[in-house]
Amino acid sequence: MMTSTPTALTTLQNKRVLLGLCGGIAAYKAAELCRLLVGAGAQVQVVMTKGAQEFITPLTMQALSGQAVHTELLDPGAEAAMGHIQLARWADLILVAPASANFMARLAHGEASDLLTAVCLARRCPLALAPAMNQAMWSNASTAANLGLLKAAGILLFGPANGVQACGDVGPGRLLEPNELLQLCAAQFATGSLAGQRVVITAGPTREAIDPVRYLSNHSSGKMGYALAAAAIEAGADVTLISGPTDLPVPERCKLVPVISALDMLAACQVQAADIFIAVAAVADYRVALPAAGKIKKSAEELSLALVRNPDILATIATSTPRPFCVGFAAETDNLADYAKAKLHSKGLDMIVANDATSTFGNDSASVTAYWPGGEQLFEPQSKTQLARRLIALISQRSLIPHV
Ligand code: PMT
Repeated sequence: MMTSTPTALTTLQNKRVLLGLCGGIAAYKAAELCRLLVGAGAQVQVVMTKGAQEFITPLTMQALSGQAVHTELLDPGAEAAMGHIQLARWADLILVAPASANFMARLAHGEASDLLTAVCLARRCPLALAPAMNQAMWSNASTAANLGLLKAAGILLFGPANGVQACGDVGPGRLLEPNELLQLCAAQFATGSLAGQRVVITAGPTREAIDPVRYLSNHSSGKMGYALAAAAIEAGADVTLISGPTDLPVPERCKLVPVISALDMLAACQVQAADIFIAVAAVADYRVALPAAGKIKKSAEELSLALVRNPDILATIATSTPRPFCVGFAAETDNLADYAKAKLHSKGLDMIVANDATSTFGNDSASVTAYWPGGEQLFEPQSKTQLARRLIALISQRSLIPHV
C-alpha cells in the first residue's frame, strides 16, 4: 500500500477537488479518502448519487469535507448556492470514487441525468474515475466499450485493483485504497508528472528581415508558450524555451534560447534533445528571399518583395530520430477543427491544440480544443496559466502511451 508523502501534502494545498460518489459497497472508502484530501490541504466538495446515499450518508461526507454535500440536480436552493455549472467551474480536479458501471455507461454516452453526470459534462478540469464493481461487470464487453469511449475523451482511470471482492469473487474491480487515490490526485498537480523529461517548447513570433531595420512578423506575444514552459517546469520537466522576440520574463529554471527568424528557430530546435516537443510559436510561413543589405530607400510608388517558403520546424522534428512526442498548435480564423485535424495528420503529430486566431493572439486567456488520433478534449475559456497546467497534464498523460 502507498503511504501519504510530503509530495501529496504540498501539491494538494489549496487545490479544489470535487469528489463524486456512486453507489457501491466501496463508498465507505470515500470517507477516508475525503479525510486524507482535506488533511493534504485540498478544498473538497462532495457530490453523491442516490445510490451512494444508500451506502453512506451525506452527513458523514459533510463532516469530513467541512462543506454541505451536493445531491440534487434540480434543487432551487442548491442551484442558487452552487449549482452544477458553478461546481464544474470551481473544480481543479474531479475524482469519482467509487465510479460504478452504471455511472461510467451514462458518462460515456454524454448523459446529464443526475447532478454528478451533469457536473462531469460541464467540467473544465481533468476528470478521473476510480472504478469499483464486481469483476464480471468490469470484464463485461459493454463496460469495456464504455471504457474505450471514456479513455478516448481524455478521462483518467485510477485502478481498479485486483483481489477479493465484497461479494466473494476474486478479480479486477476493487476500488484502489484511499492512500493510493490520494497520491494519484496529487500527481495530477505535481511537480513530478514530467520528472526527468526533456521538454522543448517554441514560442512567440519569428521575424523575417526585409532589410536591416524592417521585418515581417505577426502578433504572437509568447504568452501561451511561456505559460506552458512554466507549467512543464512545475511538473518537473527539464525545459528549453526556444523563443522569438517577446517582452515576457523568462520562467525560472527554464533554459531560454532566443532566436529571431524561422531559420534560427529551426537550427536551435535541431540541436536540442527532446522527449516532448511542443510547437507554440507562430512561425512565419515565408521569408524574404533576399533581404536588402542596406536600408531600402523610399522611391517608387510600389515595392514588391519576393518571398520563399520557410521550412516547417515541427514537421521536421516530427520526422527526426529519435522522435519526441510532438505537439503542435493551430490558430485558425475558420474551419478550426478541420484545419487542425488536417495538420495533425499532415505534420505527423501526436497531438494538436486548436485555437481561434481572432481571440488568442496576445490575450491572457484562451479556449482551445486538443485533438489526438482517436480523441479530443475541449478546454473552456480560462487564463493561459491555468490552461497551460491542464494541457501539460494531458500531454504528460498521453505521452506515456506508446506512439509510432
Ligand atoms: O503567443 P500568444 O500571443 O500567447 O498566442 C498564442 C498562439 C496563438 C501563437 C498559439 O496559441 C498558436 O496557436 N500557435 C500556432 C500558430 C499557428 O498558426 O501555427 P500554424 O498553423 O502556422 O502552424 C501549425 C504548427 O506548426 C504550429 O505548432 C507551428 O508552431 C508549427 N510551424 C508552423 C510553420 C513552420 N514553418 N514551422 C512550424 O513549426
